[in-house]
Amino acid sequence: MTKPPVPPIEVRGSARQPLGMSPARFLHDYWQKRPLLIRNAFPDFKPPLEPDDLAGLACEDGALSRLIVHDEKRDRWSVKTGPLDEADFGRTPGSNWTLLVQDVDKWDADVAGLLEHFRFLPSWRLDDIMVSYAEPGGGVGAHVDQYDVFLLQGPGQRHWAISDDPHAPKDFRPDVELKQLARFEPTHEWLLEAGDMLYLPPNIAHDGVAFGGPCMTFSIGMRAPSQAELTGDLADYLAERLPDEQRYADPDLVPARAAGEIDNATLARLKAALPFAAALDDDSLRDWFGRFITRYRNAQTPAALEPPLDATALRKKLAAGAQLLRHPWSRLAWSRGKTGCMLYASGAAYPATPELAGQLCERRTLNPAAAPSPTEVALLLGLVNDGHLVLRGGRRR
Ligand code: SIN
Ligand code: CO
Repeated sequence: MTKPPVPPIEVRGSARQPLGMSPARFLHDYWQKRPLLIRNAFPDFKPPLEPDDLAGLACEDGALSRLIVHDEKRDRWSVKTGPLDEADFGRTPGSNWTLLVQDVDKWDADVAGLLEHFRFLPSWRLDDIMVSYAEPGGGVGAHVDQYDVFLLQGPGQRHWAISDDPHAPKDFRPDVELKQLARFEPTHEWLLEAGDMLYLPPNIAHDGVAFGGPCMTFSIGMRAPSQAELTGDLADYLAERLPDEQRYADPDLVPARAAGEIDNATLARLKAALPFAAALDDDSLRDWFGRFITRYRNAQTPAALEPPLDATALRKKLAAGAQLLRHPWSRLAWSRGKTGCMLYASGAAYPATPELAGQLCERRTLNPAAAPSPTEVALLLGLVNDGHLVLRGGRRR
């Protein structure tokens, strides 16, 4: 079987087709899949905003703006967040700086007018139009965004370098607050002129630098909630609608086999009590419940030990006969699953052995085995240092 040809990375647009193709073709071949440079997407593009208007907006309270200056010699970046004032602009060097203002479509109807061209996307997927002004050499450095973006070139020229290598390293430079990439090796480079547009799906590394003179860029950015945000909000939504009387219930309870264990019967009851828990694998459900139930309705949590002990000091104390008292505010539970045995304490999880986890839940005072295993020492050390176990007594040596 012959593979279908890879769609071209560069096309030409026209007044009739800003994407250089029909929206249906663009969505099928490029959207969320691969970058696309559209030359002449907006023929004779007239910017809906002047640089002075942008600078004025950056000085407004409530406008989200950033002034970014790159000291090329020392490779230092400085970021000033708005509201800015005239003096900030007075201090800018002759090159290597950029001003970026987010949500300009909310402030300026002409800028918002650009969105007409993106009606083929659900309106709730659109986030904002960010507008940037950059002096030669100005940019925000190489980075990745989590969202799709259309980078529409306004007046001036901008050099864009991107990497569509899925294996390219994505680690950040530790010294810069801009989340710039520590390493960036472009796979494609272009010089964009007014009216050209670069579409980038999420996670494509990119770096845009004003070239030859000042330039403006209009970034039409999308939004897509993370699974974490969706899950959190759905849980809140469901929680608000559930009556308080509907609770975890265990009329089928039988005498506990091992104190504190979150057993399979508990998991079955949780699945019955939670509308979407049945879809979770048992180990995740166990891990979540262990963390939750040991945090639930705790008026206080034990304070961490200051200074913390190390494993050698703990071993010495235990060998000298020290006892471990469970802190009265410590709430413990444990479980064993495919991924091993865990002890939970005040919302934290510690790798454990079933024997020691059971003993810790059952007894207030513990005389640990003469030769605890490395897992057990690590568990006891974690619990001692986090304040859940308090050392008492033991002969001095
Ligand atoms: C810009 O500098 O206008 C675009 C910034 C970006 O790459 O997100
Ligand atoms: Co970007």
